[in-house]
Amino acid sequence: MRAEQSVNEVLAEKARLREEILRKRNLVSPEVRAQKSLAIMERFFELDEFNSARILHIFVSFRSEVSTELIIKESLKRGKRVVVPITDHKARRLFLSEIEDYDLDLRPGHRGILEPKKEAIRFIDPGHLDLILAPGVAFDASCRRLGHGAGYYDKLLAGLKTIPLTIGLAFEMQVIDEVPVMEYDVKIDGIITEERLIKK
Ligand SMILES: Nc1ncnc2c1ncn2[C@@H]1O[C@H](COP(=O)(O)OP(=O)(O)OP(=O)(O)O)[C@@H](O)[C@H]1O
Ligand SMILES: [Mg+2]
Repeated sequence: MRAEQSVNEVLAEKARLREEILRKRNLVSPEVRAQKSLAIMERFFELDEFNSARILHIFVSFRSEVSTELIIKESLKRGKRVVVPITDHKARRLFLSEIEDYDLDLRPGHRGILEPKKEAIRFIDPGHLDLILAPGVAFDASCRRLGHGAGYYDKLLAGLKTIPLTIGLAFEMQVIDEVPVMEYDVKIDGIITEERLIKK
C-alpha cells in the first residue's frame, strides 16, 4: 500500500484487477493452457530447490489456473511427498493433507476444487514443508502476489515461524507492473511462468 492510497482504494484496485485478469485468463483455450502449464512444470523441475525438496505443498488447480495435475503426479513419481490444501471455508483457513495418489485420494470439495476425501486425509503440519507452490490471480516482478481474496495463503504463510521457499505459478498474462498490497500480503520468493523464472 502506497502512502497516498487509502485502504479502500487498495481494496478496490485489487477487486478490479481480479476481475480483469480472471476474465482474460478464462479466455485462454484449454489446449494453450495445457501447453503453457507443461512448460511451467518443466521449468519447475529444473530448479535445484525442487530437486532438494522432500515435502512440497502444491495447490490443486481449478478452472483456468496453471494446471498442477501433472506437477503433482510427476512429483509423486519422482519420490516427493506432496501435500495439498483442504479449505475450511467457515474458518477461512487451509489445512494441509498429504496425498499418495491423485486419482484415488481426491474428490470435488469447496467450490468444486479437488481435495482429499475423508478417508484419504493425512494431516501435515505446515512447519514440515520444504517448498510451497502457491496459486494467484496476479503477480509482479517484485514477487508481490494477489490471490482470490480470502487471504488463505497470507494466513498460511504468516502462521509459519520460517517460511519455506514459496513460488507462485502463473501465465505470463498474469504478471503485471505492480500488484497493490496491504501490510498483511506476504511476498513470495519467485514466480514461474511459461517464459521465465522471476526471482525476488
Ligand atoms: N495473517 C492474517 N491473519 C488474519 N487475516 C488475514 C491475514 N492475512 C490476510 N488476512 C485477511 O484476509 C483477507 C483477504 O486478504 P487478501 O485480499 O490479501 O486475499 P488474497 O491474498 O488475494 O487471497 P488468497 O491468499 O486466499 O489467495 C483480508 O481481509 C485480510 O484481512
Ligand atoms: Mg493477499
